[in-house]
Amino acid sequence: MAKGQIFYSENVKNSFNNYCLAEGIEEVIVICDVNTEKHCLTLFDDFRNIIVIPSGEINKDIDTYSFIIKNLIYLKANKSSLIVNLGGGVVSDIGGFAGSTYMRGIRFLNIPTTLLAMVDASIGGKTGVDFLLHKNYLGTFALPEMILIDPVFLKTLPKEELKSGIAEMIKTGVIANAELFEALNNGTEVEKLIHLTAQTKWEITERDLLDKHERQLLNFGHTIGHAFESYRLNIDQPIRHGLAIAKGMMAETRIAYALNMINENELNLIINCIAKRTEQTELSTEDIQAIAPLLKMDKKNLKEEINFSLPLGVGSGKVKVAVDLKQIQKILLNA
Ligand SMILES: NC(=O)c1ccc[n+]([C@@H]2O[C@H](COP(=O)([O-])OP(=O)(O)OC[C@H]3O[C@@H](n4cnc5c(N)ncnc54)[C@H](O)[C@@H]3O)[C@@H](O)[C@H]2O)c1
Repeated sequence: MAKGQIFYSENVKNSFNNYCLAEGIEEVIVICDVNTEKHCLTLFDDFRNIIVIPSGEINKDIDTYSFIIKNLIYLKANKSSLIVNLGGGVVSDIGGFAGSTYMRGIRFLNIPTTLLAMVDASIGGKTGVDFLLHKNYLGTFALPEMILIDPVFLKTLPKEELKSGIAEMIKTGVIANAELFEALNNGTEVEKLIHLTAQTKWEITERDLLDKHERQLLNFGHTIGHAFESYRLNIDQPIRHGLAIAKGMMAETRIAYALNMINENELNLIINCIAKRTEQTELSTEDIQAIAPLLKMDKKNLKEEINFSLPLGVGSGKVKVAVDLKQIQKILLNA
């Protein structure tokens, strides 16, 4: 199996054991957080080497990264070891960052346990941590050996986390796959939705691993969403990543409409789908004002303008749409 590919499993323990046998892997180090230790680790045979990190975005930072590296050294991890990132996007981001930088990179594999990680975060090789509350400011592009997806983990996932994952599915549908968007609106079962979303993400990523052009489509909702997520972290009221993206997508859909990239029917279709499936409201006037300074910090910006990936109708999009901050505020405050 080529690096970075997805394996859909109905028995994660057997699939993982078969993989290790086939690849001759003897030395496994699991990275999980306190919740996936409790709910997900129990589905496997006993692992000897386990690094447990605290949960939550607030811990996707350089201190936790340092803690992981110290433990890798303590466990004598080396080029023949395999790191298994068992968890949501926080674990795959930080575990991938540790795996891709420790000794200039050792093998790692992702077993996503949240819906968001199954359809998005675990796929495509972006790893990293936040720095001084700026999202994903330190990171690498490094593909995992494989992504092993088994929906069994969703049984213990809180409802809010499911909604967070649905937001990223909607993102992929709106910006890149009309069939997926349609499926999200017609009650298609979750396994099929996971498959459609994960496959779409992987196909886009494979064509543009280093995020130079097409992959940037997947940033739809993220310019405003990341700013809002950082703002909420700053005021000590963290919001789940996907739910911040849901709010970001609603705002960015309004910007696309104001720029004549979608019509009124598409505007309503997209905003209603996001509001209904994620139970999020649009940003308040206070929120819009609060995120302005953070928008300027976005990694995608060039010069003074803010860069967006916006829908062009439903199922396709345009990257690098530069909009002036004043214009953004005018559109959003008048919506
Ligand atoms: N690298 C990428 O391409 C990419 C893409 C999208 C998002 N992300 C990142 O992913 C992160 C968000 O990921 P997330 O939403 O998975 O968050 P998360 O990893 O924080 O998981 C959410 C919560 O669910 C718990 N949990 C995980 N699996 C569980 C299970 N099966 N049962 C019970 N509880 C469980 C976790 O402990 C945590 O409390 C953000 O940091 C975001 O920036 C990265």
